[in-house]
Amino acid sequence: MTPPGQTIGVLGGGPLGRLFAQAAQNLGYRVHVFEPQAGGPAGAVANEETHASYDNLAALRAFARDCAVVTCEFENIPVDSLRALAAATRLHPSPDVLHICQNRQREKHWLGQNKFSHAVCAEALDGDVAAAVARVGRPCVVKTADFDHDGRGQMKITDDTDLEQAGAIFRGRRCVVERWVDFACELSVIVARTERGEIRVFPLSENIHTRNILDFSIVPARVSAAVAAEAQQLASDIAQKLGVVGLLAVELFFTDRGVLLVNELVPRPHNSGHWSIDGGETSQFEQQVRAVCGLPLGPVGVREPTVMVNLLGDLWRGGREPDWTAILAEPKSKLHLYGQREPRPGRKMGHFTVRAPDVETALAKARELKAKLAGEV
Ligand SMILES: Nc1ncnc2c1ncn2[C@@H]1O[C@H](COP(=O)(O)OP(=O)(O)OP(=O)(O)O)[C@@H](O)[C@H]1O
Ligand SMILES: [Mg+2]
Repeated sequence: MTPPGQTIGVLGGGPLGRLFAQAAQNLGYRVHVFEPQAGGPAGAVANEETHASYDNLAALRAFARDCAVVTCEFENIPVDSLRALAAATRLHPSPDVLHICQNRQREKHWLGQNKFSHAVCAEALDGDVAAAVARVGRPCVVKTADFDHDGRGQMKITDDTDLEQAGAIFRGRRCVVERWVDFACELSVIVARTERGEIRVFPLSENIHTRNILDFSIVPARVSAAVAAEAQQLASDIAQKLGVVGLLAVELFFTDRGVLLVNELVPRPHNSGHWSIDGGETSQFEQQVRAVCGLPLGPVGVREPTVMVNLLGDLWRGGREPDWTAILAEPKSKLHLYGQREPRPGRKMGHFTVRAPDVETALAKARELKAKLAGEV
C-alpha cells in the first residue's frame, strides 16, 4: 500500500492529469507530473513537474526515484521507457497492458485471442488500404494503428472516391480497417482494479459523439438493466484478463441488433467518466488514486442522474472567453475548466455537468445550456 503523504507520479500533463492530481492531493498525496511540454493543465496544479521527452531515460529514472508509484493519463509512451520506469519504481498499469492498448492492431488481436467480440477488421499491410477494405467490406472505417485520438487519423470509406483518397492519405502508415457498425448507441464502462485483484465497475455511460469527438455522456445509460449488467460483466472480465491495475475504460458499441462490441480499451481515466466528479459516490480520479495506491476502492453508485458536456476550444470565438453565466446560475450544474493556455478548435478546454432526478430532464437542461453557450438561443 502507498499511503497518503507519499508521491504519486503521473505520465502526461493534460486535463486528465490535472483532475487526477487534484483528487490525489485531496487525499494528501504529493503529485509529480512528467510531461514534455511546459505550461499544461496538470503542471499548473502539480507539486512538481519534469519537462522532458518520453524517451529521455535519465529523466524518467530521476522521476521514478521521486515517486512511490507512477500511473498515467496518457498511454502513448514508448514501451522501452515504460519498462525502464517499471524497473525503477511501481508502474500501474504495467508496460504490457499499456503496450497492448497503445496500438489498435495489438488490441484487436488481444480481444480476439481472448474471445471478446469486436467489429470485423483487417490490418492494412504496407498501407495497402484497398486490400483490407476488400476483406472487410464497405462501408468501413480506416484508422491509423497508433498514436491518434478523438477520431483523428480516421476516414469512413463508402465509395470508390473515398477509397482512392484513403489510399493516398494512409500510404506508408500502419492502419486497421474496421467494418462500419450500425449502433443503437455507444456506451462505455470504467473499471477499477487493484494489485490484489479487487474490482469495482462504474455504471454505464451512454456517449454521444459529434464529428468523432465526445459531446455528451449520459449516466445512467438509457439501456435495459440486462444490457447494463452484461456490459459491466464484460468490462470486468476484460480488466481481470488484462490484469490491469488502475483504471480501464471499455468503449462499446451497442449494435442495432442488440449486440455489444468492444470498440477500444483505454487504460486510464476516460472523458466519459467525468460525470463521476459531480454525480458519483467516488470520482473516477479518486478511484484511480485508490487503485494504484492499493487503498480500498470507493463505492461507485450514481448519486443523481448526470449528463456531462464537453467544452471545446471552438466556443472561444476570436479567443474570447465564453459567457458562463447560465451554467453558473443553474443550481444543479457544475463548470470545470482545465486551465488550457490556448483555446484551439477541437481542444478539450473543460466540461460541465447537469444533474436531475432523471436523465431526460438532465439531458434537456444540458442541451439548453450548451445552445446558450454557443449563442444559438
Ligand atoms: N467501426 C465503426 N463504426 C461506426 N462508428 C465508428 C466506428 N469506429 C469509430 N466510430 C465512431 O468514431 C468515434 C471515434 O472512434 P475511436 O474510438 O476508434 O477513435 P479514437 O480516435 O480513439 O477516439 P477517442 O480518443 O475519442 O476514443 C467512435 O466513438 C464512433 O462514434
Ligand atoms: Mg474511442
